[in-house]
Amino acid sequence: MSDTAILEINGEKHEFPLITGTENEVAMDIKTLRSVTKGVTTLDPGYKNTGSCESAITFLDGEKGILRYRGYSIEELAEKADFLEVSYLLIFGELPNSEQLEKFHTDIKDQSIVDDDVKKILDAFPKTAHPMGVLSSLTSALTAFNPSCVNVDSKEDMYNSVVRILGKFPVLVAWTMRKKQGLPLDYGDKKLGYVENVLKMMFKKPNEDYVQNPILINALDKLLILHADHEQNCSTSTVRIVGSSHAGLFASISAGISALWGPLHGGANQAVLEMLEAIKEDGGDTKKYMAKAKDKNDPFRLMGFGHRVYKNFDPRAKIIKVAADEVLGDLGVDDPILDVAKGLEKEALEDKYFVDRKLYPNVDFYSGIIYRGMGIPTDMFTVMFALGRLPGWIAQWSEMRLKKEPIGRPRQLYIGENERAYKNIKKR
Ligand code: ACO
Repeated sequence: MSDTAILEINGEKHEFPLITGTENEVAMDIKTLRSVTKGVTTLDPGYKNTGSCESAITFLDGEKGILRYRGYSIEELAEKADFLEVSYLLIFGELPNSEQLEKFHTDIKDQSIVDDDVKKILDAFPKTAHPMGVLSSLTSALTAFNPSCVNVDSKEDMYNSVVRILGKFPVLVAWTMRKKQGLPLDYGDKKLGYVENVLKMMFKKPNEDYVQNPILINALDKLLILHADHEQNCSTSTVRIVGSSHAGLFASISAGISALWGPLHGGANQAVLEMLEAIKEDGGDTKKYMAKAKDKNDPFRLMGFGHRVYKNFDPRAKIIKVAADEVLGDLGVDDPILDVAKGLEKEALEDKYFVDRKLYPNVDFYSGIIYRGMGIPTDMFTVMFALGRLPGWIAQWSEMRLKKEPIGRPRQLYIGENERAYKNIKKR
């Protein structure tokens, strides 16, 4: 393949380098486009064709259904690694040895105290507030309690900012849920593993000991690994673009949480469960909802289906589907919602509309069913996604800052009014 692309505009030819990535993906480098063409820009709503950065963190091939973190397949990581190892891998680039992992965990635990005054902010929220809005606000508020700026040229400073947020974030997650349930807000237990600690912080009742269930620990660990990174998706791009203005890590992550909240992105896991429940309540007629999803005059979409990048089975959905069966079986949960989900999936995979558009179940189709089996409230599902995505956001933010990327600032094509004179209010 040639290593340049030629663009002809008004008879004038311009050459742009073609860059090949390590997995042989090819990108046209248009950094000089506006200067050499004297102002021509690209137009790509939704950035369907636009690469915003070079990244060495996550590789995904949507046609083949491949997902790898730092070169390791998601299938192998989900089976063999734990969430903290994967977090280390994503953020620092290599799997940790035992000492590195232990130090990482100790440093995170040492940073797991959230200023008690944060509880006053949480108190001001009504119990009806959506946990994602609360989590985003509390994460942003952490900036006020930890105001020191990160010097990105200092390895120590960068490391400290990483362990600080990994330590405090699970506390905020647990508090967000407990506040809604009227339970006292507590801190974690330093003796426990990262995921065990999350579960205890979320579920411990004040009047009884919390008994750990290895099935829940394994299930949550796996879910968090599957959600840990997914290259330049909506929330990750948000984290990078906010961070590109040199806003701090807490502020950037807070913005990412807001982006994740939407039902077309991370909020889909809540939307899927609500959809499955509605179908069940409506008599379980999956054909009726398939027809609604295909009707262009009906805004209904089959939540948990389709993906901007995957035009094949989302590899995470395959792993989660098996896990859903295992976890619900092990916990002895017989959830009729699972039958509705399986029925819907079977029909969609055989339906011409879905086949033609390459709409397959995505990661969110089954994750909510597992969360529900674990006793996590529906409106907390996207919060659990955020907990899993945190190391990915941190890794992407660090990569962007360490590479000294310029501030993110897309162009536009203006289609509004041309210059016109101001009209006095009485003459309008
Ligand atoms: N149900 C019915 N039709 C769908 C669905 C769906 N879930 N998803 C896409 N389509 C149709 C569209 O109507 C469109 O049809 P057309 O070509 O006849 O106009 C075609 O498939 C392409 O869809 P787009 O919206 O153009 O695809 P895009 O890449 O922009 O959107 C998205 C991807 C947002 C994920 C979409 O598939 C969707 O809304 N899915 C449901 C929400 C969901 O599950 N989101 C979670 C994604 S995973 C994640 O973020 C973690």
